[in-house]
Amino acid sequence: MKNKAKPQKAVIAIDGHSGCGKSTLAKSLAKKINYLYIDTGAMYRAITWYLLENKVDISDEEQVAQAIEPLAITFVKSETGNHVAVNGEDVEKYIRSMEVSKSVSPVAELKVVRDKLVALQRQIGQDGGVVMDGRDIGTVVFPDADLKIFLTADVETRVARRVAEYLEKGQTISYDAVKENLTLRDHIDSTREISPLRQAEDAVVIDNSHLTKVEQLEQVVGLLRERGFAV
Ligand code: DC
Repeated sequence: MKNKAKPQKAVIAIDGHSGCGKSTLAKSLAKKINYLYIDTGAMYRAITWYLLENKVDISDEEQVAQAIEPLAITFVKSETGNHVAVNGEDVEKYIRSMEVSKSVSPVAELKVVRDKLVALQRQIGQDGGVVMDGRDIGTVVFPDADLKIFLTADVETRVARRVAEYLEKGQTISYDAVKENLTLRDHIDSTREISPLRQAEDAVVIDNSHLTKVEQLEQVVGLLRERGFAV
């Protein structure tokens, strides 16, 4: 039997808990190897922002279904990389607020929301050459991904990094408020009925609590080379 030819461009799935630096790793990896970077959390956040903005009752799945049915969720180019857009409007600057962070996990529990976004994510990644980060990429969206990373970091490190990110944007959010949000989201994301956050059996676990950004990037590039990808 002939060996199946290696696809030229990999599908790379990066999953893990809230605030462990998935986006930082995924973005720098995509840049280094010239792949497309897709932040699936931004897609869930964009829908959440839209629902809050339009005062849709997020506990009513029927209402949510009607509201999101006509929505186009896309990515648009910007100077700082790809930004998520709703019906063509770049909404990146609205989606990282604490208000959106508080409602995004309940919204991401809804089947109607997951069905829409998972279909879109599969379409975007179907030809490979993509680094996608989220919670269910290696388990549900691309169970056959060429490389699956499950990223973790201890909770203190995750909270401290998130607080620093807010500070960089000029927002002061207390350590305790961030910790409460991260741990609550982790709980909802890991225990929900549909596509809960869990480590895929064939995922490589990287704990980056004590790794620099360069070290974790090099580890992942090494894993891709081991798998025969010319990166
Ligand atoms: O990656 P993030 O923290 O920006 O994601 C925001 C929320 O979106 C997260 O708490 C859970 C949800 N999410 C999800 O359910 N599935 C994904 N693939 C990505 C994010």
